[in-house]
Amino acid sequence: MKAHVLLVASVAALGGLLFGYDTGVISGAVLFITKDFDLAPWWQAFTISVVLIGCIAGSAIAGTVADRIGRRWTLFAAGVVFFVGAIVSALAPNEAVLLWGRFVVGIGIGFSSVVAPLYISEVAPAESRGALVSLYQFAITVGILAAYLVDYALAAGEAWRWMLGLAVFPSLILISGMIGMPESPRYLFKVGLGARAHQELARIYDDPAAGEREERSILESLRAKSVGFEAFKQPAIRLALFIGITLAVLQQITGINTVIYYGPQIFQMAGVASAARSILAQSIVGAVNCVMTLVAIFFVDRVGRKPLLYAGLSGMFLALAALAFSFAAPHLSRSLGTIALSSMVVYVGCFAFSLGPIVWLLISEIFPLQVRGLGMSLSTLANWVGNFLVSQFFLTMVARLGLSATFGMYALLCVVTIIFVRAMVPETKQELLEQIRVRPA
Ligand code: BGC
Repeated sequence: MKAHVLLVASVAALGGLLFGYDTGVISGAVLFITKDFDLAPWWQAFTISVVLIGCIAGSAIAGTVADRIGRRWTLFAAGVVFFVGAIVSALAPNEAVLLWGRFVVGIGIGFSSVVAPLYISEVAPAESRGALVSLYQFAITVGILAAYLVDYALAAGEAWRWMLGLAVFPSLILISGMIGMPESPRYLFKVGLGARAHQELARIYDDPAAGEREERSILESLRAKSVGFEAFKQPAIRLALFIGITLAVLQQITGINTVIYYGPQIFQMAGVASAARSILAQSIVGAVNCVMTLVAIFFVDRVGRKPLLYAGLSGMFLALAALAFSFAAPHLSRSLGTIALSSMVVYVGCFAFSLGPIVWLLISEIFPLQVRGLGMSLSTLANWVGNFLVSQFFLTMVARLGLSATFGMYALLCVVTIIFVRAMVPETKQELLEQIRVRPA
């Protein structure tokens, strides 16, 4: 792989790092914010979830922005938004300003969650596109782990302002990095800057013949006339949208963020008494999430997207079924802490090499160029709405149905996802982006 392409993908992946850090950091910070601003439980919950409302708003508009001003400047804008949000949150004199700051951070996350994978998939050569977009997921997991560790390190000083404020450093790197990055050749072709696009393709491919093949395929795909919402009248594009949105929602409703956001609480429900041990257990989960994403980076372009999805989803199903079973079995109560930790490690580890990276990858691949920004925006929007609903109602579901039924439901949804992947999702390994077609198997 060319160093140039790896550099471009790594800078763009910083958007993922900020996504992970900013969604993960609040779990520790909120304890001290609640104390400082004397928050009632409702406001405490809202301080956590307001960022997701920002994500919904940001992802809804990001595709249109990326189609207007380009992928590169949209990601640059995301960096600026992250920076402003971090400063406002860290210096907030009261709860109202803090909420605005976190909302702004959410807009940054919404932007980068649409544009970073889109941009990476558009600058990546077909044979390493899977690995490069998975790098973005890897950055998300590094961000989440960094957030856990920062929260842990700063907890003694109750330094929530630093916890939120440290995000300015990666945002500055993203901002300055994007100034030096090239625009996506596909976007350049789309807006009629063929000569520049041609140059960019030459920097991506060692072999000029491969670059020319790609150029032909992009130009061919640009002949299709309809753009914007109009294009969704075409059955193939409607089908792509259906697949994109469904995959994005399934990524959330199989329960990943109950573990990522509420892990320490789940450990405490499993009988791990001390808060410090629960936080430690959560850091183990965070580290496994990170390391297992490497499996996707290495294998997604070799064995393909669908085999990894089947393997990962089967592991997630087994781990969730074990959790559901053990929370319902009173005779296991003494070993529940150990069972919970090992099942959650298996569950997150399997998510990390399958549903985590591959959903972002597929939704950046399945839309034709004319509607790629829009399709990606709508799918990502659905992902954030799913995330909001699951994380908002998880504790209520546990209170109403119990942990066993809740995990049992997620297990069932893993089976639904396997069936959906089998029936609807195309294998996109090694295919040129413009040659990917969705059609039911
Ligand atoms: C998901 C996030 C999740 C993260 C965990 C991402 O792919 O979209 O919702 O928190 O993975 O690593």
